[in-house]
Formats: sequence, structure tokens, C-alpha cells
Amino acid sequence: MTEIRERIQQNKTTIDDALSECLSIEKVGNSRVAEAVRYSVLGGGKRLRSFLVHEFSGIFGGLSDAALQFSLAVELGHAASLIHDDLPCMDNSELRHGKPSCHVRFGEDVAVLAGDALLSMAFELVNANPYVSAEVARYAVQFLSKKSGLHGMCLGQDMDLAKKCNSLNELEVLYDLKTGSSMQVAVLFGFLSSNKIPNDTELSSMMNYAKKLGYIFQMKDDILDVLGNNLELGKSSGSDARNGTKTILSFMTLHEANKKIEILAEEASQIFKDPILMELPFYLVKREK
Ligand code: IPE
Ligand code: IPE
Ligand code: MG
Ligand code: MG
Ligand code: MG
Repeated sequence: MTEIRERIQQNKTTIDDALSECLSIEKVGNSRVAEAVRYSVLGGGKRLRSFLVHEFSGIFGGLSDAALQFSLAVELGHAASLIHDDLPCMDNSELRHGKPSCHVRFGEDVAVLAGDALLSMAFELVNANPYVSAEVARYAVQFLSKKSGLHGMCLGQDMDLAKKCNSLNELEVLYDLKTGSSMQVAVLFGFLSSNKIPNDTELSSMMNYAKKLGYIFQMKDDILDVLGNNLELGKSSGSDARNGTKTILSFMTLHEANKKIEILAEEASQIFKDPILMELPFYLVKREK
């Protein structure tokens, strides 16, 4: 566990510096929306998705500069989803990364715009990644659109907010769309930093791995929402129960859910014969924030 923890920490330092640079006042200005963007992105986060980009880039012989630019895009897109997820019309969460959520600090109007600006910026960075060919960049843009939009995260969030999920099967689809989508983007972007398009076999193993990580990650998130505390999580625990959100615990006991997560981690760890990718699912099982 120590090695993976250190690698995640190292990657976080690199990406935090790159994000600060990319969102410097000189580059983004000091408008209200720019301030909201800087506040939300630079205010914290585990940077797990950029870690996935980094690790998959390493495995597939990617160029680190290409991976870094893709990582920035993935983290900006993720930050956009958190800002919108916290809005009063969605989860109505007032705490994120241990601070007032974007809309609490800047108002709902600015928070909506900050999310829009971040997702736009993510597309811009992917499209203009100078370290990959135009063909690879276009492939990446298409994948990001698909996974963010009507057949991806937006659909997953819609299903989540509708609170109509009636079976475990439906919940798995919801998890895959709302949470798995960004993991899939991250894993694929790592591969694309090698300036190659994956073949069907490569794509299918990567998606299989990312989907399983998404399930593990969201199940654990749902459990921490019940068992965790605000201080450790940096966000308001109990939010799912308050909102009547369907979670894994709507369909099974805590004991069963923990067992399911272990099984998924075991399965995920067998997809790639790389020590870090084998360990990561178990690391996510054990996470406390
Ligand atoms: C939170 O994601 C949203 C979910 C998918 C549950 P993270 O827990 O990865 O968010 P940060 O960036 O580390 O805060
Ligand atoms: C959000 O899931 C997933 C996203 C697409 C942002 P949650 O609503 O459970 O995430 P948290 O718990 O607020 O971070
Ligand atoms: Mg939510
Ligand atoms: Mg939420
Ligand atoms: Mg949650």
C-alpha cells in the first residue's frame, strides 16, 4: 500500500502544480466565474482520475507531456461535475473539499457558469493537445463527448436525481454512467497519450477495468456517505439519505455491500498484470475519504 500511496501523492503534486499554472489569474482573468473556477479546482481533490491517466500512459508507452495535458482536461471535467452535483437543484450540498461549495461561496448563477466554463475548457485542452496527432485528439474529443453527455454522465446524474432506480441492475447502469464514465475517459486518455488508437481488445480490457473501478468507487462513496464524517470526507455526509438518493445500501446490507466490493476488486485486479493496477482496486476499497 505504501508505494501506491506515494505514487498517488506524487502525481497529485504534479497535477496540482499544472492545474495552478493552467488556471493562473494571468490566463483565466479575475472575473467572478474565473474566481469560482480557481476556487473549485484548486481547492482540493484526490486527483484519482489523473492518476489513472498517468498509470495507463506508463503501461502503454505514452508521452508524459501528452498525458499531463489529458489529465488536466479530465480533472477540469470532473470538477465541473462536482460543482453542478452540489447545486441546490441537484444534491444541495453545502460542503466540498472541506469548504463551502462553489454555489455557497459564489452564488448559483456563477456556479452554473463555472461548471460550463470548466467543461468547455476540458474539451479545448483535449482538442488542442499538441503532443498527439489530430486523429488521436479527435478520437479523444468524441469519447469525452459521449461519456459526458446524454449517453454518459448526464444520463447517469438524471437517473440518480429521478430516484426511480428499482433494481440492483438498474443501479449498476446508473453507477456506470454517473461515475464510471469519468474513469473510462481517464483510462482511455492514458492510452491515447501513446498517440495510438486502441484496438477492440485493448479498448474492451480498459473499459472493463474502468467500469469495475467506477462501481467500487461509487459503492464505497455511498457507504462513506453513511459511515464517514464531514471532517474526514470534506463533504456533507448523510446527503444521500437526506435526498432519498438510491444507493447500494437501498438494495443490500452493509455487510453484503462490502463483500461485493471485495469481489469486484478481486476481479478488477486480474485484468492487467501490472502491480499498481492490481493494487489500485484494493486501495480504493480501503479508502476513508
Ligand atoms: C466524487 O469524486 C464524486 C464521485 C464520483 C463519488 P472524488 O471523490 O474522486 O472527488 P475528489 O476530486 O477527490 O474530491
Ligand atoms: C456524484 O455522485 C457523481 C458525479 C457525477 C459528480 P455523488 O453525488 O455521490 O458525489 P458526492 O458524494 O457528492 O461527491
Ligand atoms: Mg449526486
Ligand atoms: Mg453529491
Ligand atoms: Mg456521494
